[in-house]
Amino acid sequence: MKLKWAVSVLGLMLSMVLCCGCIAEEKTDTEELRVGVLVYNQDDLFIQSVRDELDECFRKTEREESCRITVSFFDSMGSQLTQNEQIDTFIENGYDVLCVNLVDRTDAATIIDKGKSANVPIVFFNREPVSADLERWDRIYYVGTDAAEGGKLQGEIFLDYYEKHRETVDKNGDGVIQYVLLEGEPGHQDAAIRTESCIKRIKEGGAGMERLAGANANWKLNQGKEKMEAWLQEFGDEIEAVISNNDAMALGALDALGKQKWSKIQAAVIGLDGIEEARIAIQEKRMIGTVINDAEGQAEAIVKLALQLGRGEPPKNIPGMEKRVVRLPYELLTQ
Ligand code: BGC
Repeated sequence: MKLKWAVSVLGLMLSMVLCCGCIAEEKTDTEELRVGVLVYNQDDLFIQSVRDELDECFRKTEREESCRITVSFFDSMGSQLTQNEQIDTFIENGYDVLCVNLVDRTDAATIIDKGKSANVPIVFFNREPVSADLERWDRIYYVGTDAAEGGKLQGEIFLDYYEKHRETVDKNGDGVIQYVLLEGEPGHQDAAIRTESCIKRIKEGGAGMERLAGANANWKLNQGKEKMEAWLQEFGDEIEAVISNNDAMALGALDALGKQKWSKIQAAVIGLDGIEEARIAIQEKRMIGTVINDAEGQAEAIVKLALQLGRGEPPKNIPGMEKRVVRLPYELLTQ
């Protein structure tokens, strides 16, 4: 289901009402809300799952609130400039509220100022604006997670697995884990922080760690696979663990491990997100575990905020909200 998201970008540009929510039977007396959703890149596997959850949650809310909700999704295709222009289109077309997955999280000021001058509130998600930008206006919110907590939980999964399978993981028996590291995008709040707290937690747990190599694979499966192929050439069986900032890159590493010519090479692979394909890999014991990045919980918070802000109400009853920032907890998923 997660992979079914193949909305035509051209179609989106031509019409502002594609991907709309259901239309309530009684149009006349029904309250109407128009919501614009922008994602940084629709090819991102985790963002696809958030998008699916948003779709479902807006429809559910529409039924429960008997409010007609029109939701239009735009793919910003990795360009902040494109995203800024898409914001203009939504504002010109009278949308009530915007949900924005920034392309460049350090460059939110233009969008915020556009929203502010048209008085259209914004709920940012997944790619966190810097705090100075969040201070620019009091009708902007952020929904995400605590990156350090995600990394720490990865560390805990690893330690637990290591305790139970010490001999299989520490293949050369030197008491130190030789690992490679797949990092997300440089500058993304969930990349360096997850890495740092994962490694810190493993070391605190008493396991020695030796980094053989690490690189940014920008959250992408293909890039994860390419990096891993190169590391397998270079280090071969020396690699005992693969620590990845997300599941997509971990799946890329698994692809590379599956295709390597030394058929006996095994490594403990860990990811983060809990996307469908990673859950399958864990069930099949090809991955040791993942940390669930709660796409459903994040979608629920975004939809609640969008509804209240769109109606002009001050947001209330949003679990995990402090000031204007909502952080959803992570959860472990292991074999
Ligand atoms: C997720 C990644 C995703 C990225 C996109 C992160 O929180 O873990 O899978 O690619 O957000 O911004």
